Amino acid sequence: MSRDIQEKIAQLTQELNEYNYQYYVLANSVISDYDFDIKLKELETLEKQFPEYKDPNSPTAKIGGDITSKFETARHRWPMLSLSNTYNEQELRDFDERVQKAIGTQVQYVCELKFDGLSISLTYEHGKLAKAVTRGDGIQGDIVTQNVRTIRNIPHQLKHGSYPDTFEIRGEIFMHKAAFLRLNKERAENEEQTYANPRNFASGTIKLQDSAEVAKRPLDCFLYFLYADNRSRIFSSHWESLMAVRSWGFPICEHVSLCNNIDEVLDFVHLWDTQRHQLSYDIDGIVVKVNDFAYQEELGFTAKSPRWATSFKFKAERVETTLKAVTYQIGRTGAVTPVANLKPVLLAGTTVKRASLHNANEIQRLDLHEGDTVYVEKGGEIIPKVMGVNFEKRPENAAVIVYPTTCPECGTPLLRQEGEAVHYCPNEYGCRPQIVGKLQHFIGRKMMDIQGLGNETIETFYSLGLISKISDIYTLKDRKDELVHIERFGQKSIENMLTGIEQSKEKPFEKVLFALGIRHVGETVAKKLAAHFKSLQNLQAASIEELAAVQDIGIRIAESIHHYLKQESHLIELHKLAEAGLQFEIVEKEVVLAGNGLSGKTFLISGVFENYSREELTALIESHGGKMLSGISAKLNFLVAGDKMGPSKLVKAEKMKVPIISEQDLLNMINT
Ligand code: IVH
Repeated sequence: MSRDIQEKIAQLTQELNEYNYQYYVLANSVISDYDFDIKLKELETLEKQFPEYKDPNSPTAKIGGDITSKFETARHRWPMLSLSNTYNEQELRDFDERVQKAIGTQVQYVCELKFDGLSISLTYEHGKLAKAVTRGDGIQGDIVTQNVRTIRNIPHQLKHGSYPDTFEIRGEIFMHKAAFLRLNKERAENEEQTYANPRNFASGTIKLQDSAEVAKRPLDCFLYFLYADNRSRIFSSHWESLMAVRSWGFPICEHVSLCNNIDEVLDFVHLWDTQRHQLSYDIDGIVVKVNDFAYQEELGFTAKSPRWATSFKFKAERVETTLKAVTYQIGRTGAVTPVANLKPVLLAGTTVKRASLHNANEIQRLDLHEGDTVYVEKGGEIIPKVMGVNFEKRPENAAVIVYPTTCPECGTPLLRQEGEAVHYCPNEYGCRPQIVGKLQHFIGRKMMDIQGLGNETIETFYSLGLISKISDIYTLKDRKDELVHIERFGQKSIENMLTGIEQSKEKPFEKVLFALGIRHVGETVAKKLAAHFKSLQNLQAASIEELAAVQDIGIRIAESIHHYLKQESHLIELHKLAEAGLQFEIVEKEVVLAGNGLSGKTFLISGVFENYSREELTALIESHGGKMLSGISAKLNFLVAGDKMGPSKLVKAEKMKVPIISEQDLLNMINT
């Protein structure tokens, strides 16, 4: 029996690693997402039951889950050096001349993109990923293996090939621009700290202690350099080694070129200087490497960098345009953000109309005046930033831009907390964008997800004086007579909305905590707080020190929560919400132990369930010996039906006389 399980775990591990390789490295989809998830769940369940057979490189590590309290460090076997830089054609030709002089002949170069991420060193032993270490100071770095195992295109197990028993491969971890924009937008909406560019996001992510959180932030990797003992006996050149490591299963960027002379190198440089904005990730230059390993050894290193390679750095794209006005946005927590409104200008492939000015310090640093001509750059090629002022073009008698001392929306004097750069409007219950923003945040999809109540309706209700606090949402059911008079708001819409509001009372504590809109409490922080303190009561009793002791919760967040929970107005709100029936404590799920009570039976699950997700139910069924089917057929024994299930499945199941059971029926079946 245990041998079978061991074999099953090994077989699933291998099979899923292959699917990952096909999908993330070769971009081939050979299995449906659903079937992949089912297999992954099956493996996860088996691994939980038989941890002794779990491979550290299991594909389940891509979901994360391990927590690292403090990263251990490791010394690099070969120091991780940096590259010398060149900034123009002449400097690149000078580099080539130095190389030719030292070697005595013309040499071949490999040109690669210079990815703008963080470098990583991966060690493989017997074809398995054994260790991942950050660059650190170049001599030693942090061991981040668990986090790196979550990166989809990094192979856990190599394909067959004649690789050395032990070797090191280096590359760059980065985040695609689209993922960066999406996640940063989400963070901004949650009023979590945003990142300036994909590189910062990637390096912030790799240092997280919770690998499950890392797994949620899609990182990618390209490898670009192989180290091994006697490497030059196996391969004679960098190009040859790159092609070989690609065949072992490593992701190697497709935009590499073997060049016969410096003119071909320059062609590659010029091509990418103009084409780089078409890439889905950031690059900041081109890396040029002498191809032949023997020549590399001959050229050697300076104290800081190899003499056999250099990088050509692209100029950050910068344009001039006029500042039309500075406006101020008030966020739902009262944070005031200055925005430069610009005369539209084309920059790095997009039209820029607005640029962030961050805070009062930035306006002062720039010495901004009305009508100024400003230099705009794209930080990390994405977010436009005002870099400076062309003082020569300043209009005569232009007035200096003064950061307001009162809220531009409600006139309340602004406050700035010690040590923080951001100003806040403290008029939480009287400043329109804050009130509306808080209400809209509360009903949002990732928070209370109130069906039938949208952002526009919130604006209307607020304008009509129907709601101004979150708790007012739960009094709407007693104000139907007022609701019916609202234009374009029919009886059916009202009923839908009231049902949605009632249903939101079932949302778990972590969602409620997130939905309240406490400054610096985003989705992840709310989850951590709920899991740690279990109830609002415990959270209220916690000191700042106790709050800050929770993993990944810093002192700034701890102070913000503590402050929020001490304010009288918030206590009144929380009391009203609790009275309305919202969840202020965690309801622990019943733990069902594994067994084989479902052995020989087949199941199909469909719809949304009260206690468990579909994935959890699948795992539960499989861990009790049941088998999942993907459709209704004569072989199906039970259809487990939840809410929102399509009618066609029900009809078909009834027609084929397949028993339809509920989530509770299934749990009863398992327990008896
Ligand atoms: S080779 C001995 N190749 O650039 C140097 N580096 O400024 C070996 N980088 O720390 C590095 N793309 O993080 C190399 N195709 C590429 C690269 C690359 C980005 C980064 C790397 C390195 C930094 C040096």
